[in-house]
Amino acid sequence: MDLKHERSRLSAAFEQRFGKGGGIRAAIAPGRSNLIGEHTDYNGGLVLPIAVNRHIAVLFRSARQPSSHISVFTELLGATDEFDVGGIKPTTDPMQHWANYVRGTAHALAKRGIKLKGGELYIAGDLPRGAGLASSAALDTATGLALLALAGRKMPAQELAFACQEAEHRYAGVRCGIMDPTAVGRAKAGHALLLDCRSVKVTHVPIALKDYSFAVFDTGVRHKLASSEYNKRRGECEHAAAVMKKKSLRDVSLEDLLKHAHKLTSNEHKRVRHVLGENLRVMQFAAALSRGDVEELGALLLASHHSLAQDYCVSCAELDEVVAQLQAHSAKDHACAGARLTGGGFGGAVVSLLKTEAFPEYAKAMAPHARGGSILLTPSDGACVTAL
Ligand code: GLA
Repeated sequence: MDLKHERSRLSAAFEQRFGKGGGIRAAIAPGRSNLIGEHTDYNGGLVLPIAVNRHIAVLFRSARQPSSHISVFTELLGATDEFDVGGIKPTTDPMQHWANYVRGTAHALAKRGIKLKGGELYIAGDLPRGAGLASSAALDTATGLALLALAGRKMPAQELAFACQEAEHRYAGVRCGIMDPTAVGRAKAGHALLLDCRSVKVTHVPIALKDYSFAVFDTGVRHKLASSEYNKRRGECEHAAAVMKKKSLRDVSLEDLLKHAHKLTSNEHKRVRHVLGENLRVMQFAAALSRGDVEELGALLLASHHSLAQDYCVSCAELDEVVAQLQAHSAKDHACAGARLTGGGFGGAVVSLLKTEAFPEYAKAMAPHARGGSILLTPSDGACVTAL
């Protein structure tokens, strides 16, 4: 989000909503695009996301008198929410589902001993929602930073990431992994973030791509079954790990899989095969990224998509179509090295590795398939708080 250009519009909009008085600050959190390592995070595996050049901003201001009341307005939906930090509960109104990310984050911070204070929150941003770019983790993280600042407190980025994950589990009903809030909070510009989800160790991998960039093409499709199927996949993996007497699939080797194959359902077998292969691909991808091996990166993207579609069964016709169209277009000009779905799947976006100069032409050619639009990605810094 280009705060430089939005600053005066946003502060005027804030004051129009909550009254004049200045003292407005902003917590700004990027979205993320996962380059590779899909559906591995909740299996204790490896992931390699970048933070992207689209953001959610939570503008905030302390209450004038000491108060425990939080007022929220989101200009993204034109909706409001009010709650008291003394007794935070999820809302059951389906129209207000978005507010559960704010309340859930507040609740998770309070549970970690943060004495929350009242104030006003104004949500804005340019990050597409539901596109597989972690808009909810960006909202959680920006909200968390805003609430911490209102309370005059700080928290290590990884601890905040765990609080945001808890908000998703308890208030939004998705049993997501730790990748999204970690990438949103800890990413570094010009780098991909190699995260070991078992130890939460982060290694910033430099992106050595001269003439190539990552770009996303958003199908514009959002399938309703995404969160229920997500929880189902996670359940299958946990069950398979338990059958093999392991804590998580991260601890399972190919030998274990062969030894226990007869005890797994054919779906469980496919899910495990994807996770084992995908963890290997992450390591190969990280190495290829730092030496700028475009051909290898493209092949790994396509292999990951194939595995997600065939073995993990989280793709859909629209995502497959974008990947196929990118490949067909590239058969003519060789500008696209490879592509795969990014994020949870069942709609959302495809991430591709593309010659930077070819992006405008690809954006045009893909428009009929990428109805949600396309974005040329700049690997960006993680979330921060700034004066407005
Ligand atoms: C969603 C979840 C993540 C991760 C991905 C799939 O984005 O929020 O935790 O599991 O799906 O890789």
